[in-house]
Amino acid sequence: MPKIPAGVRGAVITGWGSALPPKVLTNHDLEQMFDTSDEWIVERTGIRERRVGGTTVGLSIESGRRAIEMAGIDPLEIDALVLSTTTPDRAVPASSAAVQHELGLRCGAFDINAACSGFTYGLVVSHGLIAMGSKKVLCIGTDCLSKITDWTDRNTAILFADGSGAIVLESVDHGGGQLLGWDLDADGSAERFLFAEVGGFVQMEGKEVFRRAVRIMVDSATKTLNHAGVSADEIAMVVPHQANIRIIESACAKLGIPMEKAATVLHYTGNTSSASIPLAMNEALDAGRIKHGDLVLLVGFGAGMTAASALLRWGGDEQ
Ligand code: UT7
Repeated sequence: MPKIPAGVRGAVITGWGSALPPKVLTNHDLEQMFDTSDEWIVERTGIRERRVGGTTVGLSIESGRRAIEMAGIDPLEIDALVLSTTTPDRAVPASSAAVQHELGLRCGAFDINAACSGFTYGLVVSHGLIAMGSKKVLCIGTDCLSKITDWTDRNTAILFADGSGAIVLESVDHGGGQLLGWDLDADGSAERFLFAEVGGFVQMEGKEVFRRAVRIMVDSATKTLNHAGVSADEIAMVVPHQANIRIIESACAKLGIPMEKAATVLHYTGNTSSASIPLAMNEALDAGRIKHGDLVLLVGFGAGMTAASALLRWGGDEQ
């Protein structure tokens, strides 16, 4: 994976926002729908409840608006909208078109699909746009997995849910942006372990996905740390994809990062795919768990099988 060239224009996150649909679906609700138990789901996944409902466009407008308000900028100042989603509302046009219109943006807008790694892909792409001259980019991760979940399949229905997280990225002139290292990966040969046909439901070989997930998260995070010349014990906060608490525990143990440094929201959000990393990061920010100068490692994996990681120096690398 390429290193960030010296002197390239960087960026910092100046606003963030999250959105979850109002409807709560608990493990006890699922007990009424198929043969499972709250105990099993909590023990095997860490998930207690999840939010379902809404649309990809609707949730993206909500999280995007919050991020823009927090950044304190005029929507007309935004140069690009990057929306990561695996569950667009329509086949054509991209969901980002409706989001762009509703938020009052006048800029290019496009969707990217890298499954659950999508937000981190979007973050790296957004930094690329900033390096090419954009000044303010809105980057959103949204998924409504409930639309492509078979609610009679206990293999998948215990995991998946809906949500959205957004950030505003603004360029910095002093050259020292927040992104210190990144890695994007994919292995299409593993597609059969996690996929949905167009118009169909998600099919998953859970055990195989679990095994690969730990490996590719650790590989990707290690590459990013090595590129940035940072060791795992310097990390203040890791924001992993929120798929299963046991995957997070296993990956953190292999990376040598204690679980106290992991941001987790899956106990009440479930797995929201593209939204999972920004939801966890935004909650950690709102709780004051990330301070200026902290090293923050985002790391995700997903269908494809994709993996992505990014190392941020919170607030940028002032020079
Ligand atoms: O964004 C990426 C998306 N996907 C993932 O990250 C999924 C990764 N995989 C996983 O999270 C886990 O593999 C699952 C949570 C899907 C399954 O957990 P597991 O520990 O791998 O369970 P298992 O499939 O090995 O099943 C163990 C037992 C079986 O019973 P027996 O054969 O031991 O009697 C299953 O039939 O648990 C049973 N089981 C369940 N019991 C209650 C499987 N699913 C359930 C369920 N409720 N929902």
